[in-house]
Amino acid sequence: MARVTVTRRLPDGGLDSLRVAGHELVENARDHPFDAAQLADAARTSDALVCLLTDRIDRAVLEAGAGHLRVVANVAVGYDNVDVRAATDLGIAVCNTPGVLDETTADLAFLLILAAARLAHDAEADLRAGRWAGWGILQYLGQDVHGATLGLVGYGRIGKAVARRATGFGMNVAHHTRHDTGLPGWVPELDRLLAESDIVSLHVPLTHESRHLIGTAELARMKQSGVLVNTSRGPVIDEEALAAALEAGTIFAAGLDVFEHEPEVHPRLLAAPRAVLLPHVGSASIATRTRMAQVASEGARAVLAGETPPNLVTSG
Ligand code: DGY
Repeated sequence: MARVTVTRRLPDGGLDSLRVAGHELVENARDHPFDAAQLADAARTSDALVCLLTDRIDRAVLEAGAGHLRVVANVAVGYDNVDVRAATDLGIAVCNTPGVLDETTADLAFLLILAAARLAHDAEADLRAGRWAGWGILQYLGQDVHGATLGLVGYGRIGKAVARRATGFGMNVAHHTRHDTGLPGWVPELDRLLAESDIVSLHVPLTHESRHLIGTAELARMKQSGVLVNTSRGPVIDEEALAAALEAGTIFAAGLDVFEHEPEVHPRLLAAPRAVLLPHVGSASIATRTRMAQVASEGARAVLAGETPPNLVTSG
């Protein structure tokens, strides 16, 4: 029997495979985020950690578990919160939850595409605040989504799921990745994709290369009527630059589900016009969040049983 610390409360049923395997589960009954010392303590006293993207599992935390911590199972597909290199050095496996949140996240990306392009947030805010004086032919004039060109930056499972939805809207879909996908619509240059797209949606993991991938220069490439959507990771966009572009009207609108310094949101973005801002809810459906917890738990169970889980992350 191994000792498994679960850093936050998870959806019902999420830990079943670990329970059935007979492991001791140490749950966070108060559901308060662990600080660095509590995470290190959990690593020091556990064989496995089941954690969330809000837990910073850095080298210091992993070193605290050196010698007996066997696996960190992150309940997220993104794992930029885990120092995978340090984990590899220390012989600690890292697992994530690929494949179970693509469709739910793509739904949310599409929600942001529609809401931002059609100024749904501004219109609803006016209505709720009693500022709507009746139908007006010049009110809330947005950009059409049907027939528009959608530029996807990153073309993994979620990007492709967004592309499938776009086809139903009669959109032209292009994608940019650093390496040729060999698929129709691949655009080798990011600048060209930005310049030619009506709507740009970001689907890249956060790495050293993708940090501030979209900054002042890239925003300047976009059409003045362009809409930028981000459901990947906040730091992929330079938020200061995006706020400036929205304020100056050099792009039309933005839809963001992720932020550079969550849960803080840049005050200029909060005040920026034509921005739809959501609190990182891309995968937030009951079924998907439950499945994510199950996949992470299953990864931890497998490592503890000496098996290789299919969702093992490597540092290459
Ligand atoms: C992830 O899994 O990486 C998402 O950001 C949370 O659903």
